[in-house]
Amino acid sequence: MVAQKDDRKFSVLIAGGGSTYTPGIVLTLLNGLDKFPLRKLKFYDNDGERQKKIADATAILIKERAPEIEFEATTDPKEAFTDVDFVMAQIRVGKYAMRSKDEKIPLKHGVVGQETTGPGGIAYGLRSIPGVIQLVDYMEKYSPNAWMLNYSNPAAIVAEATRRERPNSKIINICDMPIDIMDRMAAILGFKDRNDLDFRYYGLNHFGWWTEVTDKKGNDMMPKLKEYVSKNGYWVGGDYDAHTEKSWEETFKKAADVYKLDPTTLPNTYLKYYMYPSWVVKHSNPNYTRTDEVEAHRQKMVFGECKRIVDAGTAKDTEFKPDEHSTYIVDLCTAIAYNTHQRMLAIIPNEGAISNIDPTATVEVPCLFGANGPERLSMGKAATYQQGMITEQNSVEKLAVDAWQEHSYTKLWEAFSLCKIVPDAGVAKDILDDMIVANKDYWPELK
Ligand code: NAD
Ligand code: G6P
Ligand code: MN
Repeated sequence: MVAQKDDRKFSVLIAGGGSTYTPGIVLTLLNGLDKFPLRKLKFYDNDGERQKKIADATAILIKERAPEIEFEATTDPKEAFTDVDFVMAQIRVGKYAMRSKDEKIPLKHGVVGQETTGPGGIAYGLRSIPGVIQLVDYMEKYSPNAWMLNYSNPAAIVAEATRRERPNSKIINICDMPIDIMDRMAAILGFKDRNDLDFRYYGLNHFGWWTEVTDKKGNDMMPKLKEYVSKNGYWVGGDYDAHTEKSWEETFKKAADVYKLDPTTLPNTYLKYYMYPSWVVKHSNPNYTRTDEVEAHRQKMVFGECKRIVDAGTAKDTEFKPDEHSTYIVDLCTAIAYNTHQRMLAIIPNEGAISNIDPTATVEVPCLFGANGPERLSMGKAATYQQGMITEQNSVEKLAVDAWQEHSYTKLWEAFSLCKIVPDAGVAKDILDDMIVANKDYWPELK
């Protein structure tokens, strides 16, 4: 949809300015000023030193490409959140040091260790909830008309917590995984990108299925996609995947096996952790997990490139570029800013969108995005398999939030043990007890 131009210019705050994803967002914003004009860009982080490395490179980028934009990086919440139209949140409470524990502790007990899945995801959830709520409160205090687009994970648990704790706040929780997969679908089909496709999708965050994919004329693309995915998963290969890391290659390929469980739909890649946990554990190294890979690759590349820009005093030849993560969040802001009613996915209270799922569940479904936020679309009934999976996993997420709100050991133990990837309550307790020690600086004291 074409945005209606007027003379407004927007002020954007990136909360988690020190995130490895920040430069990609900056590049996307700078490339898209004709569609989404900026007057101000600010960074906020509670680690000023980490943020400064990215901010110093960003200052050079802005000076060279759009010097009229006011740019500032700060650790002061009042300065950061005052006079802001959109907050893009991407904080990681506990940083990579704690992500590493989320992954390694469960693996030590023979259970999947993953950032947003199973015990690791729940542990991260209890750290993230107060961090994200604090951002929402700052926004409401200093810029009550602003919208927050939140990527901070685990998005499902964060969304459930903000639904309960800040029901009227203007936070929209989002995920880039289906976006990445839809770009892959477009590549498989020979289209330019995801915007050449229409779709129906439903589930929870990192836990959903496509029931329809069509081209813009309405032609059914599912048969061709299913044929491809049944053999290759979402692995495209060639130039498309030239820079895809090893662990993601494994995940995209494993989607072929996930697909086979329900050949009527196409699955989210994260379902591999729930459907093939033993396989995942067998393919994991408890001493070298995804965090180690991210630190060795993405983090190194991002901070190395920032340093290179600062040392050279120019960003003319930068390697930073837009990707699905950055274009999605900027597209969402644009849709809200210009009231376009573009159809995009969000993680929101169900309220009937999936008719046979608890209305208070926090689900991921397509919505129309306009000036008043997302308007959910009805996805109809979940099939028996999906209904069972969603109901169980949503209960895990609800129990995790109950545990945080009530400071309840038992609720958290129930969350761990109900989770499909944990074999029994004994193993759940062993992991939980280790997690309590590891998270002592972040979790409420459990009774
Ligand atoms: P990162 O560690 O590089 O960046 C996170 C930043 O947040 C750090 O600079 C850290 O200092 C800061 N931070 C931590 N706690 C804070 C707080 N309470 N207040 C302010 N700042 C705080 O992490 P990353 O790998 O770039 O990922 C950033 C976040 O985005 C993570 O939560 C990650 O899971 C999430 N993410 C989500 C999606 C999605 O699909 N929803 C996609 C990609 C990344
Ligand atoms: C996808 C998911 C995010 C997740 C990220 C992890 O993009 O949608 O929710 O944070 O993958 O990526 P990483 O490269 O940090 O393992
Ligand atoms: Mn995600």
